[in-house]
Amino acid sequence: MHVYLNNKLVLSSDAKVSVFDHGFLYGDGVFETMRVYDGVVFMLDEHLSRLYRSASMIGLDLPLNFDSIKVAIYETINANSLKDAYVRLTLSRGYGPVGLDPELCKEPTFIVIAEEFREYPRTFYENGIKLAIAETRRNLKKAINPQIKSLNFLNNILAKMEAKDRGAYEALMLNVSGHLTEGTISNVFFVSDAGAYGGHTPLLCTPSTSCGILDGITRGIVLDIAVRDGVMVKEGEFTREDIYKASEVFITNTTMEVMPVRQVDEVSYKAGNITKLLHKAYREEVRAYVTNIKGSGPSLWGYE
Ligand code: PDD
Repeated sequence: MHVYLNNKLVLSSDAKVSVFDHGFLYGDGVFETMRVYDGVVFMLDEHLSRLYRSASMIGLDLPLNFDSIKVAIYETINANSLKDAYVRLTLSRGYGPVGLDPELCKEPTFIVIAEEFREYPRTFYENGIKLAIAETRRNLKKAINPQIKSLNFLNNILAKMEAKDRGAYEALMLNVSGHLTEGTISNVFFVSDAGAYGGHTPLLCTPSTSCGILDGITRGIVLDIAVRDGVMVKEGEFTREDIYKASEVFITNTTMEVMPVRQVDEVSYKAGNITKLLHKAYREEVRAYVTNIKGSGPSLWGYE
């Protein structure tokens, strides 16, 4: 297996980072997770824009421009002969003496890992997964803004541990005001039946970015599809009672796509039609995107 480290491909056994790397010492860095379908990185520009935003929010300059990062990503995918893959891009503050001052590090560390995509069990999609609302609260926007896709993932890990202890696959976190935010690696949606908020049709609800969430790329696509297909959407502040009263719940992220939820704490839900419709439409978006990129002729796609 080959890994891209700083400026070249190396064998994974040679892909070594210093113990003085501030990503390792302090979680000082940012990352992105991408999904490759049939050799095409889905929503690559959007992921790079978010990487840039995360890096800017911690005062870190990208060591490469977007085109060079795209080349590095595709070289890594092709060096490993991958078609359906998971790509993890990591950017840390880099090597430097012990100490918090970012100026101690002269060069960021840049890593691309690409691995064959491991499908989630089919039962997750057929029956839905279980979520648990964690005691651990989501990081405050004014502490570590969840919009920074930071290497410091302890907030999420602590919530995930709670979920596992309670036999759930994913945790849901509230913010300090008691409003729903997101999962440990996912965004959350729920459907309220007609009438719940005074409307005449079901309403697709999701916490707004102001609640303190990562504005997931999958979340954005799902919201666009919903609006396009005439599903009423509400981004806002919601409590745990709102989700308990919902008729459908699902979570989204780059690798899970749209994953149905069958239980939140002690409340059960049926596999719902809106969830199914959105997952199908999401898959169609992916297919159209891949076909479009492949049809666009010589481009950054497809270093053979
Ligand atoms: N996680 N919220 C959090 C905290 C996340 O870590 C993620 C993504 C999302 C969904 O974002 P997107 O739709 O852009 O994947 C929301 C990735 C998959 C990860 O941790 O590897």
